[in-house]
Amino acid sequence: MNRTLAPFDRRRGEVEQVDRVGAYLRLLCSDPGGPAPRPGQFYMLALAAEWGGGADERPYLPRAFSYLRHEPGRLEFLLEDVGPGTHRLGAARPGEGIWLLGPLGAGFAAPREGRAPLLVGGGIGIVPLAPLQADMPGPALLGFRDAAHAAAGELMADVTLCTDDGSAGHHGLVTELLAARLDEPVEVYACGPPAMLEAVRLMTTQRGVPAQLALESGMACGFGACFGCVVPTRDGYVRVCVDGPVLEASDLEAVPAH
Ligand SMILES: Cc1cc2nc3c(=O)[nH]c(=O)nc-3n(C[C@H](O)[C@H](O)[C@H](O)COP(=O)(O)OP(=O)(O)OC[C@H]3O[C@@H](n4cnc5c(N)ncnc54)[C@H](O)[C@@H]3O)c2cc1C
Ligand code: FES
Repeated sequence: MNRTLAPFDRRRGEVEQVDRVGAYLRLLCSDPGGPAPRPGQFYMLALAAEWGGGADERPYLPRAFSYLRHEPGRLEFLLEDVGPGTHRLGAARPGEGIWLLGPLGAGFAAPREGRAPLLVGGGIGIVPLAPLQADMPGPALLGFRDAAHAAAGELMADVTLCTDDGSAGHHGLVTELLAARLDEPVEVYACGPPAMLEAVRLMTTQRGVPAQLALESGMACGFGACFGCVVPTRDGYVRVCVDGPVLEASDLEAVPAH
């Protein structure tokens, strides 16, 4: 297995800007001297000040985030405000210090010979697909709950959109768009909520279409030490943070529902 081991140091960057992309927040920060990430890799982030000490002392641990864009010395992330960590990061002010640990994990691999990439994203799961598409162009099928979230579709090219409520693009699930493309010689690259990834896993394995799934297990350390992120595969348990987050659909028994 192509395992990426952790760089055991964290770097201090600086928040440069936080802005809105539809219903999401985009965080831009400096990453002086940081190595270049590969699409599908992620970072553990924590602000240098006022991290922890909120309700129940949370957020205590750093949180895992895929990167949206990278240029030397600079990183962009896209956040969905779902809890204390994302809330605090989304409220960061320019000039605040931010601890970055990464890039971590094993990213996406090139498609098998004769197959073209087909990207399938759900909600905040589109994030790792954006740098993948920049490296490996291919059409993107993106599903969101509504038009406010679907505004993030503008971060990618060659997009076919759908929404749960029909307020933008096709009214329905992104897996319906995928079903119509599975006769093509494609390799699927998917990230999204567990139910979506499980549907993609089932559809692709039944049809013999290769698929690489970027999983989002809860993570405490991000570098293989805590075993908090394990998922079962046909070959036993693996740690999503070091053996993934990108795993072959055909290796998984099922995508765990967190
Ligand atoms: C590899 C990887 C990449 C990721 N990339 C991104 C990304 O690019 N952007 C992004 O926004 N997120 C991303 N995530 C997800 C993000 O790391 C988590 O959502 C993180 O937990 C958010 O931290 P938080 O403190 O805001 O929320 P948390 O408090 O950790 O809560 C996260 C979710 O769990 C629920 N929850 C919290 N506590 C409980 C409880 N006691 N019982 C039941 N449910 C609970 C919350 O309602 C929320 O939906 C990624 C995760 C991984 C592993
Ligand atoms: S998050 Fe600690 S082992 Fe994966």
